[in-house]
Amino acid sequence: MRLFSRITGTGSYVPPRRLTNADLAAQLAAQGVETSDEWIVERTGIRNRHFADDGVFSSDLALHAARNALEAAGRTAQDIDLIIVATSTPDMVFPSTACILQSKLGAAGGAAFDVQAVCSGFIYALSVADAMIRVGSATKALVVGAEVFSRLLDFQDRTTCVLFGDGAGAVVLEASEQPGILATDLHADGKHVGILCTPGHVANGHILGDPLLKMDGQAVFKLAVGVLEDAARAVLAKAGKTEADIDCLVPHQANLRIIQSTARKLKMPMDKVVVTVDLHGNTSAASIPLALDHGVRSGRIQAGQTALLEGVGGGFTWGAVLLTL
Ligand code: ACO
Repeated sequence: MRLFSRITGTGSYVPPRRLTNADLAAQLAAQGVETSDEWIVERTGIRNRHFADDGVFSSDLALHAARNALEAAGRTAQDIDLIIVATSTPDMVFPSTACILQSKLGAAGGAAFDVQAVCSGFIYALSVADAMIRVGSATKALVVGAEVFSRLLDFQDRTTCVLFGDGAGAVVLEASEQPGILATDLHADGKHVGILCTPGHVANGHILGDPLLKMDGQAVFKLAVGVLEDAARAVLAKAGKTEADIDCLVPHQANLRIIQSTARKLKMPMDKVVVTVDLHGNTSAASIPLALDHGVRSGRIQAGQTALLEGVGGGFTWGAVLLTL
């Protein structure tokens, strides 16, 4: 009997502090940085983002999202034998946010580790969990994307600080005789490290290098639209499917123009695309599971439908997962 993995529950969480574009513009104006709701909406589609309060970490956001996903799956933390957290904003240098989450969930004994692939992190984590379940190394996994990207933002740099937000999304992925995940496709090209990075690091009791996010927005934009189309076509080919088989596209939520361009290339009408970038901004590794949970809970994505999840981010990393819910 061939073994597959299947999503049995989704969950998400954003911290309560919501800033509209106008709120953020007012806050930035007080620091002499000029932006506007019109500019942000026109260039990105973002209208709101949520920021975690001081002292709230990725593991705290992950905990809420994980509990929601476990409840939706009808599982408890004790049922879980694998936790993977995708994050670029871990609570600590080490141990992993996955271990901290495991402890906060009150579970122990299963494997727990982080995956770091920036905005593609959830796609990477889901692909790893799928592979581990299919070879029998795990039976019930919690796969989480959680970020407090607000901690990395340079609020003097209007070209980046308006784009990002905090949040978490999670899925329970279980061994199944029925196919859930149909195919996965992962890639990276490390020569693009410099166009999107947070270069600082801890050394000898100090942070060496700049600890704030740096981005060449136009270079990222050009790369993103190309590789997202490639990843979608590659994962469809691996599964023996075509664009016509996709009921729902759940792309990384960085910029509405990137999402619209991907949908156009895949000949998908926007009513088949889950868009949450207006609500949350870019939450990096949390954006895809947040959008997936939003799609499921709003009824946009129904059980039995085929969804294409895809992401791109720093590294550069990119990838896609095709699945039946
Ligand atoms: N408010 C007002 N004006 C601004 C702002 C702002 N927040 N930011 C930039 N501007 C100004 C610039 O200074 C520039 O002014 P100038 O013409 O006088 O020099 C003008 O707006 C145009 O700037 P551009 O950088 O050309 O604007 P562009 O249309 O390329 O949009 C953006 C910038 C939104 C960053 C775009 O390049 C983009 O979305 N890139 C993709 C980046 C991305 O999504 N990154 C997320 C992380 S990676 C990932 O998740 C895939």
